[in-house]
Amino acid sequence: MAMEKSGKLWGGRFTGDTDPVMEKFNASIEFDKRMWKADIVGSQAYVKAICKVGLVTEEERDLIDDGLTKVAQEWEKGEFTIQPGDEDIHTANERRLKEYIGSVAGKLHTGRSRNDQCATDMRLWLRDSLECMYPMVKNLINVFIQRAREEVDVLMPGYTHMQRAQPIRWSHWLLSHATALQRDAQRLKELQARVNVMPLGGGALAGNPFNVDREFLAKELRFASPAPNSLDGTSGRDFVAEFLFWASLTMVHLSKVSEDLILYCSKEFGFVKLADAYSTGSSLMPQKKNADSLELIRGKTGRVFGKCSGFLMTMKGLPSTYNKDLQEDKEAMFDSYDTLTGVIQVATGVISTLTINPETMRAALSPDMLSTDLAYYLVRKGVPFREAHGLSGECVALAEQKTCSLTDLTLKDLQTIHPLFEEDVVGVWDYENSVEQYTSSGGTSKQCVLTQVEQLEQWITSH
Ligand code: ARG
Repeated sequence: MAMEKSGKLWGGRFTGDTDPVMEKFNASIEFDKRMWKADIVGSQAYVKAICKVGLVTEEERDLIDDGLTKVAQEWEKGEFTIQPGDEDIHTANERRLKEYIGSVAGKLHTGRSRNDQCATDMRLWLRDSLECMYPMVKNLINVFIQRAREEVDVLMPGYTHMQRAQPIRWSHWLLSHATALQRDAQRLKELQARVNVMPLGGGALAGNPFNVDREFLAKELRFASPAPNSLDGTSGRDFVAEFLFWASLTMVHLSKVSEDLILYCSKEFGFVKLADAYSTGSSLMPQKKNADSLELIRGKTGRVFGKCSGFLMTMKGLPSTYNKDLQEDKEAMFDSYDTLTGVIQVATGVISTLTINPETMRAALSPDMLSTDLAYYLVRKGVPFREAHGLSGECVALAEQKTCSLTDLTLKDLQTIHPLFEEDVVGVWDYENSVEQYTSSGGTSKQCVLTQVEQLEQWITSH
């Protein structure tokens, strides 16, 4: 009988304390090993703190510290061998430390739990990783800005509802994305501050009973401050959720850039050409050049948002404080970080190497896009806008009726609609004049666009 074999009613297939399947299911080492450095550094700070309160002697502290350095060197060289019992990075490092220095290694964990340790490691890892990511985001923004400055004279159709709307500067389009990414960079800075808070000293949940100096620990680890509440510090993961949201929103912005450019590089538009370095061919159709780089950015947006919504669902049903569900935080964090790192690099490459086709962009401008300008012409002569809008609409209808374009209507035609149309109306039939009228800040006139370039450049150099 199964019951006799293992002492458990359901134990027929249990051979040891833990089902090997469960052991594998429970382990996080395969993914949390990338926090090895944070784990070592955290332990090296912790041993100093417990030495200060007399839990280890100075000799023991130095022994543990040296042992941890040796473990770190193994990771560094790729020589660390994970053993079957190494459930996670914390267990693995301590096991190896003990192999180096013996039973004194067992003093390191005094008053500490894997709960405060794991949360501390993650915050250290994310903090240091985001410090690398911030300049990458800024670099990408800079690529948009530099193009915008150089190509400021290029005009293109601006779209709403994917319909030709009004002429704009290509640079204005570029800067619209730089501006959204600038907010992402600002949000990143803000979230970095919330990541940089230290759970260590929170123990399993209730705190530390040995009076360790958490201010000292925080300083050692370059944290801005210790987490103010141990229950919250050990189990709060909003810093992960916030990072995942930040990553999702940044991806959404890059997906929009991608979607625009995928259209703009199609034969139908032909506004831009992707560098070969960021395109691929078809294995079947020799003529094809596909914008795979951009499609992947757009596609991976779903993946990153999936991690965000998935992890929020994990958090949603949890009671206070640490529950093993939280182990799901790490893969979401690592995967989104890796995805975004790749995406930002590829986006930077795509934007800095694509070539534009200014003639095609200009040729896509059509006279009907000037009908708003025609209304503004009348407004400038004192006609109320609502009325002017209607009159311009009549001009559009008349052109349709005569099967000519708006700009081919004669002055006589226009004057049948309103006597205020005069010789100078020809000035309206000019795309350059059209964009140059948007002189209020934020608009598409050359001066306004160059002001945007300058403001963004100033932000880049001062942050
Ligand atoms: N591997 C665990 C995690 O990633 C570490 C914390 C384990 N704590 C515990 N009480 N079982 O969340």
